[in-house]
Amino acid sequence: MSTFIEQIHEKAKLAPRKVVLQEGEDVRVIEAAGQAVRLGIAETTILGAPAKIRATAASASLSLDKVNIVDMTAAPNLDDYAHTYYEMRKAKGATEAEALRVMRDPLFYGAMMVRKGLCDSFVGGATYTTADVCRAGIQIVGMQPGLRTLSSFFAMISPDKAFGRDGILFFADCAVVINPIPEQLADIAIATADSYASLMGEEPRVAMLSFSTKGSAKHEHIDKVTKALAVAKERRPKLCIDGELQGDAALVPAIGEKKAKGSEVAGKATVLIFPDLDAGNIGYKLTERLGKTEAIGPILQGMAKPSSDLSRGCKASDILNVIAINVVRLQGAPQK
Ligand SMILES: CC(C)(COP(=O)(O)OP(=O)(O)OC[C@H]1O[C@@H](n2cnc3c(N)ncnc32)[C@H](O)[C@@H]1OP(=O)(O)O)[C@@H](O)C(=O)NCCC(=O)NCCS
Repeated sequence: MSTFIEQIHEKAKLAPRKVVLQEGEDVRVIEAAGQAVRLGIAETTILGAPAKIRATAASASLSLDKVNIVDMTAAPNLDDYAHTYYEMRKAKGATEAEALRVMRDPLFYGAMMVRKGLCDSFVGGATYTTADVCRAGIQIVGMQPGLRTLSSFFAMISPDKAFGRDGILFFADCAVVINPIPEQLADIAIATADSYASLMGEEPRVAMLSFSTKGSAKHEHIDKVTKALAVAKERRPKLCIDGELQGDAALVPAIGEKKAKGSEVAGKATVLIFPDLDAGNIGYKLTERLGKTEAIGPILQGMAKPSSDLSRGCKASDILNVIAINVVRLQGAPQK
């Protein structure tokens, strides 16, 4: 386990929160839910058919002690949840029958538990796709005040401690928003800055990446980045953010000094914001493989209550880590 994750576990234990895991019949989820309770990281609720959950736990010799099990199809609050969903979505054509069907789906039922305050966060996606998890988050939990874009970040843990904060850098967006407009790119930068502050316990230095540094080239792709920078600065005047910067100018002090003299970010960035999903997704995968860097994520951000997706190939330990990351984000960092 990386030191970063060890620290996140320790922080989570200081003020555990309630987390619902929608795929409660999955053995990896059962294991992670039990570990989270035993380690004092979170109070966990898992959704699914109780008999199936108990049988799966028994066959894998896993304890369900203190893990709350909810069968969403027989829950006393199902009608109330369906009514809330209907009221939220009727203008978009939802019917009462559809609302009941949607609320029987654990992904949406779990998101509604968060909306209603029964749980603080959801962790789903061990079997559902990223797009499904994003839709449940967008439709039910909604967005954090001041943000309109659900996005994601990766914590990249490099063995080369020369970069970022002792080798740790946050990358975004590498998984959700395919071609952000400037306002969305500004949202991604602000959300990632907040994620960094809450998880790392220090102010971020945010680099808006491009193939140009400070006007070295001219193109509409660069204009998008500089416009996003202006929006982010206007909305968060105290945020330490700069652009447009090339990757080397963002990370290497001598190059940052040469190409962007006087910048508070160039050469010492801790958060890298990519201009679109092509750049972000390719960038994180190359860093992971060529740089022998651990990539933790994608962690969803921008929701009113930090909740997360999982990779369908995840292990129980990955799920436990995401639970801990959500708990620490819920504990929050002071907003600038
Ligand atoms: C997030 C995602 C699932 C949304 O897809 P969608 O449901 O088809 O979205 P639509 O464009 O039809 O929009 C539906 C609604 O969601 C909203 N929405 C879409 N993406 C959003 C986002 N990132 N943040 C906030 N709201 C969003 C839209 O504004 C729209 O709202 P409206 O109904 O009030 O008009 C989509 O962006 C996606 O698939 N991203 C890529 C994920 C992926 O494949 N990743 C793989 C790489 S790891």
